[in-house]
Amino acid sequence: MKSESSAPGKIILFGEHFVIYGTKAILCAINRRITVRAETVPREMITIKSKLGTISHNPETKLADIDAPLRPIFHIASKLIKRHTHKGGMLITISSDIPHGVGLGSSSACCVAGASAILGLFKKHDREEILKLAIEAEKTIHRNSSGADCTVCLYGGVMEYSKNVGFAEINPAPEFTIVLANSDMKHSTGDVVDGVKGFREKNKARFEVMCKAEDHLVNDAILHIKNKDMIGLGVCVKKNQSMLKEIGVSNERLEEMIKIADSTSYGSKITGAGDGGCIFALNDDTNMQDTLYTLEKNGIECFSVGIDFKGLDTI
Ligand code: PMV
Repeated sequence: MKSESSAPGKIILFGEHFVIYGTKAILCAINRRITVRAETVPREMITIKSKLGTISHNPETKLADIDAPLRPIFHIASKLIKRHTHKGGMLITISSDIPHGVGLGSSSACCVAGASAILGLFKKHDREEILKLAIEAEKTIHRNSSGADCTVCLYGGVMEYSKNVGFAEINPAPEFTIVLANSDMKHSTGDVVDGVKGFREKNKARFEVMCKAEDHLVNDAILHIKNKDMIGLGVCVKKNQSMLKEIGVSNERLEEMIKIADSTSYGSKITGAGDGGCIFALNDDTNMQDTLYTLEKNGIECFSVGIDFKGLDTI
């Protein structure tokens, strides 16, 4: 028995970190994918193969003993083997064109494609069940996950998301182009999220004000997207970046990259947890090539991405 699914990576346009505390965020699925193939095998072992390495463990192995990047997939496989009293094991193969650990949603896309592929070995499944399982799996490595990343990787497109209200597609889809620049510094989402928790504990009143400001910013950004106002949207991007800097998730390298990207684009900011990872620069056809050229000239790895509208694909 075999089953295969793929899901796109993502960028967070607005609202990372604050979204954990209930504010709104805007996310966009990108045209880079991860594919997970699952097959049942007679031997009672879960084997997971990916670019990050190969692991093979008995389904009863404790999660704490499984290496972090592949732990969510092991969790899904072991849970479903037990739930369906499956006699035997599983071979899971992951292939990806999303860079790992730089805030582009490789782990969420893997959780979504993995939940879909592994569920597909046992039953017909719906998107809600996949999402629930994917978020649960992501929480095995990032316990405070807002669920935003898995949601956009599952449904695709551009969306407004809040933990308490859920998501709403933003229509019509924006016409901007996104340039991503990689700092080449890997980050741990869980560690950066813990750092922000520390900032919040020390600066309770200020953090509350910032959460309200982020909500307003997201509302403004949605209006600018709808009005195709790139300059207004760029101002929102820059404002969001200054809040991310204040909560301590930027660093010297990212600030340097942002300064360079700001010189040609409408605005740029961290995307994802920060303290490494990627920044994005907001462009349209008039300035995208200039932004790519300027970043490259400064020795920064960069590439443009489009919006993925498909989301999860069950192959
Ligand atoms: O995993 P990353 O680096 O894309 O960041 C996730 C976004 C956060 O808001 C920092 C965490 C979350 O669960 O929403």
